[in-house]
Amino acid sequence: METELLSLMKQRRSIYDLGKNVDQSQADLTSLIQDVVKEAPSAFNSQTDRIVIAYGSAHDKVWDIVLDELKKVVPAEAFEGSKQKVEQQFKSGYGTILWFTDMSKVKELEDGFPLYADNFYDWSEQHIGNSQFAVWTALAENRLGASVQHYNPLIDAQIAETFEIPKDWRLRSEMPFGSIESTADDKDYMDDEDRFKVID
Ligand SMILES: Cc1cc2nc3c(=O)[nH]c(=O)nc-3n(C[C@H](O)[C@H](O)[C@H](O)COP(=O)(O)O)c2cc1C
Repeated sequence: METELLSLMKQRRSIYDLGKNVDQSQADLTSLIQDVVKEAPSAFNSQTDRIVIAYGSAHDKVWDIVLDELKKVVPAEAFEGSKQKVEQQFKSGYGTILWFTDMSKVKELEDGFPLYADNFYDWSEQHIGNSQFAVWTALAENRLGASVQHYNPLIDAQIAETFEIPKDWRLRSEMPFGSIESTADDKDYMDDEDRFKVID
C-alpha cells in the first residue's frame, strides 16, 4: 500500500511551542493555504468555508483581542496564566488562519433544498473539518506547526469589527501556525477493537 499520505498525517500534530522562524514567503504560504482549502470537499460542492489569513500585526491583533476578551471573563487571579498561554503558545507563532462559515450560503442551501435543510449546517462543519485538517497537514509537510483553537464566540464581535468581516461569516476556529520550537509528545490511541468493526 502507498503510505505517503499516512506519513504526512502522522507528521501533523498539535504544536503548542510555535515560533517565527519561517523560511517560506507570505505569498507562498498564502497560495499553499488557498490551494489546499480549495481542494477540501464540501457537501454539494457548496464551499461554505471562508478564510482569513493573518500575518504580522494582524496576527498579533487576533491574540490581543483574545486577551482583551478573556480579561473580561477570566477571574483576575487566573488571567496571568491565560495570558502566558496565549502569548507563548499562539501569539508567538508566525500567522493565524481564521475559519468562518458563510451562514448566508448555508441559508441559501437550506431554502433551496428543503429535503436536506436539517443537514446543511452540520455539513458546513464537516467541510471546515476537512479544510482545517488538510491545511494543518500541508503546513506539517512544510515543517510548520499549528494548533486549532476555539476562542469563538467570545471574540466574534471584536474580530468582525477589527477585520471588517462580512456579517454573515460565523467564526468557527482559529489556527495559529509557525515554526516548530518543540515537538508534540507521543499520542495515545484507543483500542482498535473498540473503534473498528470489519465485516466480511
Ligand atoms: C474539532 C477539533 C477541535 C479542537 N479544539 C481544540 C481547542 O480548542 N484547543 C486546543 O488546544 N486543541 C484543540 N484541538 C486539538 C486536539 O486536542 C488534538 O488534535 C488532539 O488532542 C490530538 O492531538 P494531535 O493534534 O497532536 O494529533 C481540536 C481538534 C479538533 C479536531
